Order: sequence, then C-alpha cells, then structure tokens
Amino acid sequence: MRYHVKSFGCQMNVYDGERMSEMLSGEGMVPAANAVDADLVVLNTCHIREKATEKVYSDIGRLRRADGTRPMIAVAGCVAQAEGKEIARRAKVDVVVGPQAYHRLPQLLKQASEHGLAVDTDMPADSKFASLPSRKRVGASAFLTIQEGCDKFCTYCVVPYTRGAEVSRPFAAILDEARSLVDAGAREITLLGQNVNAWSGTDDVGRSIGLAGLIRALDRLSGLWRIRYTTSHPNNMTDDLIAAHGDVEKLMPFLHLPVQSGNDRVLRAMNRSHGRDDYLRQIERVRQVRPDIAISGDFIVGFPGETEAEFLDTLSLVEAIGYAQAFSFKYSARPGTPAADLGHMVAPDVLDDRLQRLQANLLRDQARFNADSVGRRCEVLLERDGRKPGQLIGKSPWMQSVHVLSDDQIGDIVLVDLTEAGPLSLSGQIVT
Ligand code: 5AD
Ligand code: SF4
Repeated sequence: MRYHVKSFGCQMNVYDGERMSEMLSGEGMVPAANAVDADLVVLNTCHIREKATEKVYSDIGRLRRADGTRPMIAVAGCVAQAEGKEIARRAKVDVVVGPQAYHRLPQLLKQASEHGLAVDTDMPADSKFASLPSRKRVGASAFLTIQEGCDKFCTYCVVPYTRGAEVSRPFAAILDEARSLVDAGAREITLLGQNVNAWSGTDDVGRSIGLAGLIRALDRLSGLWRIRYTTSHPNNMTDDLIAAHGDVEKLMPFLHLPVQSGNDRVLRAMNRSHGRDDYLRQIERVRQVRPDIAISGDFIVGFPGETEAEFLDTLSLVEAIGYAQAFSFKYSARPGTPAADLGHMVAPDVLDDRLQRLQANLLRDQARFNADSVGRRCEVLLERDGRKPGQLIGKSPWMQSVHVLSDDQIGDIVLVDLTEAGPLSLSGQIVT
C-alpha cells in the first residue's frame, strides 16, 4: 500500500506529518511522491483561519480519480480535532484523527477498512510520543516537539481547543529524541511548541528547569551545531532564557516572538495579557545580550473593533522593532472562540487595505535587514540543492536563506561571505 501525507499550517504539523509517515513506513507501507499515486492520503489539516480550514474540503474533492474511484482518505490535524465526525457529512472520508491521537492511525485504518468511518479525537493522557517509532531519516535541520497546547486563551485563537492544554514532554524523552535526530544526520534542531518557552521539566539530577535549562543540556550534545525554538509568548521570556541568548553559542540569534497588535486596547481585547511596552521591553532585553539578534513576529490586522488609529499603533511598533521577517494575517472569526461573538467586524476592504500596508512595511524591513547583512561573514548550514547546477541553499544564523556555489555536502556548515541581498534571500561566497 502506498501512502502520501500532506501537511498544512504550522511547523508542528510538519513534524506530526513526518512522524505519521515514519509510522506508516513502519507498518510496511511505501511512500508515494504525490497523492495521485497513493492508495492512502493523509491530510494533516490546519484550523487556524477559515481559509486553511476550507482548503481541506477542496483537497478532498481533488482526490477523486478520473474513473470515479478515490484513495483511502484520513483527515488528521486540527480540523479533525475541531470538526470530528462532522467532516464525514461534508465529504467522503475514512478516518478522522486528532493531533493527540495519531499514534493510533494504523488501528483506525484497519477499523475503517473493516467497518467504515473511524473517528478518534480523544486527548489521551498517555503520550502519543511513547508509541511512535524512533527517528531514522531526517534532513540537516529537524523539528522536535517539546511542548504542545496552550492555556493562554487569546480570544481569537482555536489552539487551546484543537491542541488542548499546555503539556511539556519530559526532559529525558526530549534528549533521547534529540540524540536520535543527530544520529540520523540532523545538525540543527528547532524545538517546537505552541508556547515553547513555557516548557518546564526536571533534569537528570532532579532540578526543575525551563526552556533555558533544556537548551543548555542540548548545547552539550556533540554533533548538534545549532538550536532554535519556536513559537514563544512574550510573557515567558524569562531571565534565564534571555541569558541563554547571550552565552549559549549553539543557540542561534533569531527570535520569533508574536505580538499580534501594537495597541494596548486591542491587546487587552485579544486577552494577550501583555501590553505594547512589555513587548518592546522584552525585545530590548534580548538585544542587550545579543545585539545582532534577528526578530520575527506574527500580526493580526482588523481584530473586531480595531480603528485606524489602533492599526497605526501596530505600524509604529513595527517601525520601532525593525523585524528581520514576519507573518501577518487578516483576522478570521473562528467558531467557538470568544472574539467570534464580539461583533464590530472590520469591513473586508479595510482588512485588505491594512494587511497590504502592514506587509509593505514588513517587506521593506526584511529587505533592509538582508541588505544590511551584505559584507558579513557567517556560518551557513547547507540544507538543500539550489536550482542552478552546483548551487546549494542553506541558512544563516539569522534564518536567512543563503545561495552559494559549492561542492560541499548538504548537512555541512560552511563559512560564507554574504555578497548580495535580495528582498527574501542572500547570495554568498564560500571562504576558502
Ligand atoms: N485570525 C487570524 N490570524 C490568526 N492567528 C491565530 N488565530 C488567528 C485568527 N483567528 C495568527 C496569529 C498567530 C498565528 C499562528 O496565526 O498571528 O500567532
Ligand atoms: Fe494550524 Fe494551530 Fe493546528 Fe498548527 S496548531 S495546525 S497553526 S490550528
């Protein structure tokens, strides 16, 4: 049986998709390069905005073959969690499995082929991670989920409902997985969590530690060269995590710290539990210990009731920070979230206009950040082949894509002079 896993949404979904693939391979199935050639298609879905959710249904429609047949279809991920068996009302599918239950996918597939639709959206207390096969084939840069779920309940957000309450994976399990990732060829590990900097645990000598302690433990792992983490909440930027940015060499100078809005009234209505100045102060603190740190963020424009003046506060915050990169979105009302009942929706043409203005400024800043990098000498982790012969693409410490001509291998770290900048990437020359 040939399978194809297609992941939408965040990096955690990419990670979950990889783990499902490993599990299906472990069951003797064979990966298919695309959905057309597969007997089983797993759609690993995202529920964060309406557009992402609707994509599932058009994708399911497209799986129908010319002769009227279709592959077996499993809907996994956050839409599966949010909509459960309702999905089967809108589309013909075989399995619906939530993000905390996908270790049961093989049984669910068996159940579906014997008895029809199988649904599992439980959030079992036993960790799915314990039932998954160990990591064997990974790229130079790998993801590792260390924390899932969210207790912060921002009023616009589905994550507390789709991913559940905040849970930290145990220290030993994370170190084991990190070790097997490195053995499988990973040189960089990005620690993932919806609130990754809220991770807490107990280290091997029984001390209570937070993300900074975990990063320091991973710093001692030989063969691992780079550590990153995402996504963080401003309220969990503890002193020790900030200190780690100053003195842990493997921790890369990059921080993705979403703020969503630069206006205090909007931040309150979003239940962000921090103000504009708190955010600015956190960035200032990190910059004090690591002046070259690249800052990234997430923004939502047009939260219910957002006025033009309030939106301008977001633009001025962007100006004040100078982001190296960022993601920005139009507010999307999500069923079941408190903000969906607020009324005062911002008109669609205003949403479009604000998103366009914000993105123009963010893109300008990203281009400026890249242009300012020209002349720097830095290490680049080679991650994939480029389009031109002999070209490889890697990442700078600041998360920029860097194109080089090189006969080095993917997975190598090379010293590069950054010579040219485009708006979204750089070119460089290997230092010989
Ligand atoms: N509408 C628009 N954007 C949203 N995000 C989360 N929920 C919504 C929503 N309802 C954005 C936030 C978050 C990112 C992952 O997605 O910016 O940080
Ligand atoms: Fe989408 Fe959030 Fe689920 Fe990730 S956790 S797939 S962003 S809804």
